Amino acid sequence: MKNLSFNRHRKLRSSTNMRALVRETQLATDDLIYPIFVVEGTNIKKEVSSMPGVFQLSLDHLTEEMQELVGLGIRSVLLFGIPKEKDEVGTQAYCDTGIVQEALRQIKRDVPDLITVADTCLCEYTSHGHCGVIHDGDVHNDQSLELHVQTAISQAKAGADIIAPSNMMDGFVTAIRYGLDDAGFDHVPIMSYSVKYASSHYGPFREAAEGAPQFGDRKTYQMDPANRLEAFREAQSDIEEGADFLIVKPALSYMDIIREVKDRFNAPLVAYNVSGEYAMVKAAAQNGWIDEENIVLEQLTSMKRAGADLIITYFAKDVAKWLKK
Ligand code: PBG
Ligand code: ZN
Repeated sequence: MKNLSFNRHRKLRSSTNMRALVRETQLATDDLIYPIFVVEGTNIKKEVSSMPGVFQLSLDHLTEEMQELVGLGIRSVLLFGIPKEKDEVGTQAYCDTGIVQEALRQIKRDVPDLITVADTCLCEYTSHGHCGVIHDGDVHNDQSLELHVQTAISQAKAGADIIAPSNMMDGFVTAIRYGLDDAGFDHVPIMSYSVKYASSHYGPFREAAEGAPQFGDRKTYQMDPANRLEAFREAQSDIEEGADFLIVKPALSYMDIIREVKDRFNAPLVAYNVSGEYAMVKAAAQNGWIDEENIVLEQLTSMKRAGADLIITYFAKDVAKWLKK
């Protein structure tokens, strides 16, 4: 082999320590945001059938769960609410005694350091399951905006540290930023679901949050999975309108978008490892077909390599435990 010329890349892969020296991407518990589903009622801890290990929790179980997260080193949670009553205009989303508002106050009282991110949308609260108000069979943009602003303000009042609007109406960042500032919450950042595709990967979430659309789909407001350039237009608008974080969602099928949004825009980038991505891994793992820990660590590390700074994931508790080992 003496006179052949080639590069010896294996030199840097020779041992665990050598590989650690040259590792380019680190996954850390600090990067994780854990979604939780709070439900009205008492003594409820109901597992979501399509998401093993994920539960709907009533408030009497919430503090204990939050303390467990803090013990694991998880710094932030994303809150979704499941109200008892739904109506046409999603009243419980912006009611000061709504389930998410109560949960926020309780978390801020019992575990004040935990960062609370409030998902700002109406679909869990509307009888039709859409993310805004219906007018002529479709979601009306500007009428819906007013309700999203009210929702964000009432979440901020209840103690939300970050507002995360997921509704995909046009102008939602501007409207919410203006509303928050006007109500005295100019210190509360917005984590915008900037690039949210009309994906088939949300099915299990809709069971967990009881927010499936009762007619039609979300394709008039969420993005077409075939589009790439449109993602930059969405992200650009949100940055101009004052978004502090950008979310790309889902994650695994959209790694190209994560990378390009990260390269083009100067804001912390959040990848949402959605319910369908979780369910697929869980199902295969339960069948003994894959190694769950290694698959999840590889997928999440890849999201970071693609450019994600933070990852919203239902695996957060497991990952925190694995990384401690
Ligand atoms: C609601 C919302 C959805 C998700 C987060 N917020 C569902 C949807 O838009 O249909 C999906 C999260 C997941 O699948 O894990 N606007
Ligand atoms: Zn919604």
